[in-house]
Amino acid sequence: MVELILPKNSRPRKGKTWPKPEGAGKLREYRVYRYDPDVDETPRIDTYFVDTDDCGPMVLDALLWIKNNVDPTLTLRRSCREGICGSCAMNINGLNTLACTKGMEDSKGAVAVYPLPHMPVIKDLIPDLSTFYAQHRSIEPWLKTTSPTPKTEWLQSRPDREKLDGLYECILCACCSTSCPSYWWNGERYLGPAILLQAYRWLIDSRDETTEERLENLEDPFKLYRCHTIMNCAKTCPKGLNPAKAIAEIRKMMVERRVSA
Ligand code: SF4
Ligand code: SF4
Ligand code: FES
Repeated sequence: MVELILPKNSRPRKGKTWPKPEGAGKLREYRVYRYDPDVDETPRIDTYFVDTDDCGPMVLDALLWIKNNVDPTLTLRRSCREGICGSCAMNINGLNTLACTKGMEDSKGAVAVYPLPHMPVIKDLIPDLSTFYAQHRSIEPWLKTTSPTPKTEWLQSRPDREKLDGLYECILCACCSTSCPSYWWNGERYLGPAILLQAYRWLIDSRDETTEERLENLEDPFKLYRCHTIMNCAKTCPKGLNPAKAIAEIRKMMVERRVSA
């Protein structure tokens, strides 16, 4: 199990233990991080007992069961329930992952659920991702061209399209960036693995015509060069992607750029 690094709002205290549901079949204990910065001085961990005969198999199912049957104030993000939108990313038993694709049978004993580590908490399991999204915008994640727009579409050969495999699948869940020690300590200036993987996705898109401008934008002592290849990002990515490799590829492009200058 990965060591649990707490979110930015300090160490939680023991909270309420909610009663076991009456007449339940199989019970599973959940220890869930609770914090409302508007009213709580410190975060707490509440304990719930989920009737697993009455809910689906995923951790998200259990959290929604708690919300619907025990404590409607529990707050979390989710949308697709299919591992596509990235909104249910949280820290489950010490690992950043998607609650909707994480089976509760993958582990034994109580399930510990925290928000993504080292981010300010808006409420309970919802981290504030404003900086993360601003960083994403800063790399201009869209096709930029200088040639006249074609009548139908920007064409791409099959081999060039294949270069985007392992990159386009990123759902911007932030599991990788919030597992990266360099991002914890320099998150305001280091772009972090998710955003750099996205940057690389546009750098190697054969249709994009602003590669030089994109590289220039990354030429900064902090934005790119804080990766120490610790590899937490690749270990935690719920889509099986490898942001560290993408970062290494950008660095290689930077070296080639300097050599050819
Ligand atoms: S690389 Fe993986 S962990 Fe990181 S944001 Fe994309 S999908 Fe999430
Ligand atoms: S490999 Fe780089 S980006 Fe990935 S977790 Fe380690 S320091 Fe962060
Ligand atoms: S709810 Fe969309 S990824 Fe989990």
